Amino acid sequence: MHNLARSCLSWQLKMSIRNKGLPWLSYNNHRLLQAQQTSQEQTTTLASANFSTWLPLRPYVKGNPTVTLKQVQHNSLSNISRTDVVRHSSNVPLTRERYQSHVKRGPFAVLSDLDISSFEKILPGRVVTDRDELLYSNTDWLKTVRGESRVLLKPKTTEEVSAIVKYCSDRNLAINPQGGNTGMVGGSVPVFDEVIISTQLMNKVISLDTVSGILVCQSGCILDNLYKHVEEHGLTMPVDLGARGSCHIGGNVATNAGGIHVLRYGSLHGSVLGIEAVLPDGQILDCLSTLRKDNTGYDLKQLFIGSEGTLGIITGVSILCPQQPQAVSVGYLACESFSQILEVFKACRAHLGEVLSAFEFMDSQSLALIKENMNIENPLPEYPFYVLVECSGSNGRHDEEKLMSLLQLVIDDNIAVDGTIATDLTKVKNIWRLREACPEALMFDGYCYKYDISLPLSVFYQLVEDMRARLKDRVIRVVAYGHVGDGNLHLNITAKEYNEETMALIEPFIYDWVAKYRGSVSAEHGLGFKKKNFIYHSKTPTAVALMALIKKTVDPKGIMNPYKLFPDELRT
Ligand code: FAD
Ligand code: MLT
Ligand code: ZN
Repeated sequence: MHNLARSCLSWQLKMSIRNKGLPWLSYNNHRLLQAQQTSQEQTTTLASANFSTWLPLRPYVKGNPTVTLKQVQHNSLSNISRTDVVRHSSNVPLTRERYQSHVKRGPFAVLSDLDISSFEKILPGRVVTDRDELLYSNTDWLKTVRGESRVLLKPKTTEEVSAIVKYCSDRNLAINPQGGNTGMVGGSVPVFDEVIISTQLMNKVISLDTVSGILVCQSGCILDNLYKHVEEHGLTMPVDLGARGSCHIGGNVATNAGGIHVLRYGSLHGSVLGIEAVLPDGQILDCLSTLRKDNTGYDLKQLFIGSEGTLGIITGVSILCPQQPQAVSVGYLACESFSQILEVFKACRAHLGEVLSAFEFMDSQSLALIKENMNIENPLPEYPFYVLVECSGSNGRHDEEKLMSLLQLVIDDNIAVDGTIATDLTKVKNIWRLREACPEALMFDGYCYKYDISLPLSVFYQLVEDMRARLKDRVIRVVAYGHVGDGNLHLNITAKEYNEETMALIEPFIYDWVAKYRGSVSAEHGLGFKKKNFIYHSKTPTAVALMALIKKTVDPKGIMNPYKLFPDELRT
């Protein structure tokens, strides 16, 4: 028998044992099918932030201020009970108390009853002072920081945003722009009593050009709803992440969110064609271009991509949507070492070329985490590392054949030791679930020290091993997963609760380590409140000084998302 045919058979045999059926089956865009399954699609107005869109981790269901994460079946979480762990948001320490040694309220005005009634005049019925809803908006997704804002504003139009921002500017009231509140660095919630301006009612699609693929929408559209909307026209979104059911496109742009498809579609700096924003004095900046090419001076929209709410409130976004892939195929492989993962990546780049759309890794501790905390089974036996390879393209059969022969090659070359493939929609979703459950599963341990760094692949996993050796049994676990195809490591350390001594062992050690290898202290989550003081580990003083100058020019009063992104000593 021809060598290729023989090895193909051996792979298929291995696969068919695992899948107990057809060795390979593509499917026509799982997200479209997902959308159809749960379909309650809107035409132009996309559902506003539904507090229960992507539970379980959301702590609140609207109108029901009790913890919604139930006492789920408890596996091997030994002596830590879920009720210990899943705390009511009001148990999250106030930021000003936990970080009292280095946070000081800025010289802003204090909200008065007159301010509330003035807001009511601009936004009748959309000025929230209800304690429970405020508690949700004051507390971050990770349950690590909590502010004390007394008011949440829900504008529907850019003009309304402009009017309330102008009012705040005149009164010298600090503002916290908020999207889906899924941010990971404490940037999405107030530190003290900032006025929260939420985009949750700014959820309209303005236009979709089905020829060019250019979508224009308000910034509060939930990413998943945009997926459903553009998929009806054979298009897809250029950004995808685990929080897609809650995060807003404006939040994605404000954080320059990366996610699982940067490898395929690049970052939002390339896909976003235009932005409309309300500046800190209330002026509307209309850069909502739908042009692919426009070289008329500085590209101002780029300043807002990744600005984390510090330069203004993004109210509209124009974004280039790629063609929806005809087929998506997923392989899940096990490796004995991290260097094997890199070999698999090299092989994928060489053999899959343009159809490679995601390359994600998880270590064995990640798999133990999701098993113990969420009862999600690993379909493969235990190995030190796992990798998820997604292919998508315009010719399903061609893509499948490419992935199949790639898988066969890495097994034959002994750079992967085992593998399984998706044979139907449910299996594809289950494989993605292994990876996407990780952030959620961490929360069950209690407190998560979360790091999101860029590193050269040659030293990528060494940091995780060094951290394990440093922390020993002080913590519950040190877990690593991430977008290895982008050089982006998610290193997570969990403990029953926050502890200053543990923190002192982690920081600045981790950032010094990253700086030594010229990595980045924030690959995709941003700096927010938690990482701002480490900016110099990744940017030169000249670069930071220029950023501060831009901030000062755009926001001379410093009212827009204060205490975030800039190091304490530069705060205005
Ligand atoms: P928020 O959390 O509300 O806000 C984030 C920041 O943006 C804040 O500083 C806020 O002030 C600012 N902001 C929000 N809206 C606006 C606006 N309209 N104008 C100006 N500023 C604004 N991130 C990744 O990069 N890649 C991932 O793979 C990824 N996966 C995730 C998975 C999970 C389960 C979760 C919970 C989060 C994940 N994230 C990921 C974090 C990520 O940053 C966000 O989920 C998302 O981009 C934030 O959008 P949001 O609407 O929730 O913004
Ligand atoms: C992810 O890739 O899962 C997200 O960025 C969230 C995380 O880092 O946990
Ligand atoms: Zn990520």
